[in-house]
Amino acid sequence: MKDYVELLKKYNQEHILKYISKLDDDKKKNLIHQIEKLDFEQLNELYKISNRDKNKAIKGVIIEHIPFVDKYKLENERKETLTNIGENIIKSNKYAVVTMAGGQGTRLGHNGPKGTYKLDVKPNAKYLFEILAENLLRENKKYNVVIPWYIMTSTENNEKTVSFFEEHNYFGYPKDSIRFFRQGNLPLLSEEGKLLIDENYNIKIASDGNGSIYKSMKNEGILSDMKKRGVEWVFIGAVDNAILNMCDPILIGLTIDENNEVASKSVVKVNPHEKVGVFCKKDSKPAVIEYTELPDQLAEETDEEGELLYGESHIMCNLYSLNALEKIANQNLPYHSAHKKVNYIDEKGNLVESNEPNAYKYEAFIFDGFNYFNNMTILRGIREEDFAPIKNKEGVDSPYTAIKLYNEFWKLN
Ligand code: UD1
Repeated sequence: MKDYVELLKKYNQEHILKYISKLDDDKKKNLIHQIEKLDFEQLNELYKISNRDKNKAIKGVIIEHIPFVDKYKLENERKETLTNIGENIIKSNKYAVVTMAGGQGTRLGHNGPKGTYKLDVKPNAKYLFEILAENLLRENKKYNVVIPWYIMTSTENNEKTVSFFEEHNYFGYPKDSIRFFRQGNLPLLSEEGKLLIDENYNIKIASDGNGSIYKSMKNEGILSDMKKRGVEWVFIGAVDNAILNMCDPILIGLTIDENNEVASKSVVKVNPHEKVGVFCKKDSKPAVIEYTELPDQLAEETDEEGELLYGESHIMCNLYSLNALEKIANQNLPYHSAHKKVNYIDEKGNLVESNEPNAYKYEAFIFDGFNYFNNMTILRGIREEDFAPIKNKEGVDSPYTAIKLYNEFWKLN
């Protein structure tokens, strides 16, 4: 008997044999190859965390408030000292920026990589990638350097992203200072734990979450490229924040001054149920609890002054020493599951389109990397200067709110 048949039987995935039996030679070979590459033990483990009650994600873990520094309460002299430390890092070419652009942007409803979304800001509408490029070019000019810019894509959007940059002449960014790299994938599983098949008779896969960035940076040679360039500090940010500050010398300076290897910017949550992760300590280590896993009671808890105890939002404005990135890249981050609507091909060859969540997607979260350190620096900024997310088509965190924040930030009213 062939290996793949044994594998499928051993792991209760024999239904795939029915698809294989109907395929032509090329497609058959392709599907078998994919099966042989799968880590079935890992899939078994992942299925166990599907549909986990959100209160259970942190069951048995001691959750505590985490201290932070408020940027706007720093004395002028301290601010100046920290700024100098940070600026020296940037000026001496020890700083690099990474943009995570592997997400699908499903909630926004944009057809294409999220960075190719055009935001109708003043004076002229700009693509999200263009906004990032312009901001970095501004920093390059200010510090007389060229900051290496790394962009993480996914299997789904890599080609479109790279050609978009080519078509737009890299928005004027020096081409040899931009590098694209791809994140990983994982199979989706049905509610019964079965592998699914897509329209092209491949195993149905999806991006494995932004937490896969660490291993991807290692495997795709990004960490070694940074090392070669003499980079010591790396900023990792999202593609969907129209006023993301990718080069804040105070954040760099404070992290070095506090003798930490990882850091992040926060802003105060607008309300206890805002859809952001919040900083805390988990079993005395720095951490973020994602909004999907934050129990209501913790979300609403306040201190003596009435401030939310878990009110520091993770706005995906993260800083690491290169050593810290290497350390995290050697760990296996935990996975989280999400219940999603997934289209697939059934055993008779018909397309199944679901209106209800019908399968599980597994994702690693970038902030779980913080957990491998005893301490981290958290710098509280303000929304008007740091956070204009574009998540939804309308309402909160939509193009409408981001345009307003962008125009106000650049005083384009
Ligand atoms: C994310 C954060 C949340 C934070 C919020 C702030 C995680 C897991 N959650 O939530 O804590 O408060 O942003 O805006 O980080 N991405 C990839 N590959 C993936 C998935 C996402 O590159 O597989 C990228 C996206 O392109 C985007 C960023 O990660 O740049 C955020 O992804 P998104 O799925 O929009 O995260 P949120 O649910 O909004």
